[in-house]
Amino acid sequence: MYLKKYLTSDIARRFFLVHPPEPRKDLLISGVTEGVYLGKTRWLNVPVFWNYNKLINPHMAIVGITGSGKSYLVKTFITRAALVWNTNALILDWVGEYNEWVRQAGGMVIHLGKEHLNLLDLGGMSKGERIKQIMSSLDMMLELKDFPEEKYDLEGALEKVYKKYKNPTLVEVEKSLEKDGKKRAARLLKGYIGEGNDFFAKHSTLKLDKLIDSGLVCIDLHSLPSEEMRSLAGLTILQFIKEKMRKEELGKEKGIKLFVVVDEAWKIARDDRSDVITIVREGRKYNFGIIVASQNPTDINKAIISNVGTTFVLRLILREYKDYMKDSLNYSGYIDEEISRFGVGDAAINMIFAERATESLTFLLDKIDGEEPLFVYKIRGGGMDVEVEREQFSRMLFELGLSDEQINMVKLEFEKNDGVIKATTFVSMLERFGYARSSIITFLRQMGVEERNIVEIFSLIRKRKASKGLVDLVLEE
Ligand SMILES: Nc1ncnc2c1ncn2[C@@H]1O[C@H](COP(=O)(O)OP(=O)(O)O)[C@@H](O)[C@H]1O
Ligand SMILES: [Mg+2]
Repeated sequence: MYLKKYLTSDIARRFFLVHPPEPRKDLLISGVTEGVYLGKTRWLNVPVFWNYNKLINPHMAIVGITGSGKSYLVKTFITRAALVWNTNALILDWVGEYNEWVRQAGGMVIHLGKEHLNLLDLGGMSKGERIKQIMSSLDMMLELKDFPEEKYDLEGALEKVYKKYKNPTLVEVEKSLEKDGKKRAARLLKGYIGEGNDFFAKHSTLKLDKLIDSGLVCIDLHSLPSEEMRSLAGLTILQFIKEKMRKEELGKEKGIKLFVVVDEAWKIARDDRSDVITIVREGRKYNFGIIVASQNPTDINKAIISNVGTTFVLRLILREYKDYMKDSLNYSGYIDEEISRFGVGDAAINMIFAERATESLTFLLDKIDGEEPLFVYKIRGGGMDVEVEREQFSRMLFELGLSDEQINMVKLEFEKNDGVIKATTFVSMLERFGYARSSIITFLRQMGVEERNIVEIFSLIRKRKASKGLVDLVLEE
């Protein structure tokens, strides 16, 4: 296009000031009780409220490089949605990055490694329906297209055990296959039955009904032994939620009842067979929204990106990723260029409005306007935790006389460990920075560490030093 060729980016900017590519104001603005506030548009400074009544569906996709602000957006969003509509949120946490935040926000964290979820639970479905779902999940996890015969055998065995037992598990399926001499199909299931991997093979301890109705809940999947297990768990939980929501009457209650967050869940966001795609395609059928986030856009199926009501593109750099988004959303070359210049929290937002569902519009938002959540550090030792808010703690360290660099070293120790540090580690750091024992003790007292714990911390450090000295000596010989 000749325009593009001749306009310098500066003139291009002015060009857009005359014709800002932004949606009509009334599509963006809602009352504070009707929508979630996100920030202001770049050109006309219009406040943007996310209001699912104006959109074709309540589902969302978020992409952007690590550190661009995806998780921050998710946290801000679900916090505000809870205020506006009393919405529950269920975070399927692949890497364990939401744990601490959820705990601090007063939510519930469930470690899946310690629970069981029976893959054969019906969750309100008919046996036939559930068998179809299980087969589609196994198909994804075990790549059954390469094993047509085994697939057939597995399906047969599922039918058998559902007939024979009231509350069967994968253990019975495997036994049935062994008994019928279907050794290869049985072997495929072995990885889900053995000790330590039997997460899906025992009767459920998880109460799904409760999880989607309890405010803020984080399901920590990262304690499961493999990516396949995490994906199978995520998928199964989604299937049960979908079934549950289908039964609930739509539209009776105001607002969205639940958001399900799947962050960095590439395996279930990419696959054509995934229920995530079905849910997004079915649009407004359910009273819940799904939020898919990833640092790698190509891990999110195009069907998801082009069907969700809202897509947030945060900073992207790689050409391949940018093209993938541009092709899916059809925005201008200008927006494409801006996306690689974004600072933290800046976003290009694509919305498909219900009133003109054939058209989608992408506009720029200057910064997701979030609330910096309080973050609490914990110092652990001597049988107790001392908690202190991050910024307050930095100030205390500053007053103690630590340099900026030293303060950052201490903070890094906390961040490495999800906000928790061992008291002995912390005290050793202060000693290394040259602090005398007496000033460290004063500091610990000031933080509220009890006297007997202080004594214990120092005696632990002394013991450790003694044994270390010994090792050094041996090494030096
Ligand atoms: N809109 C924003 N306003 C202020 N700070 C932000 C914003 N978005 C992200 N941050 C900060 O930037 C850092 C990285 O954000 P995060 O959401 O963890 O990125 P991602 O999930 O994309 O890797 C965090 O410390 C976060 O608090
Ligand atoms: Mg993140």
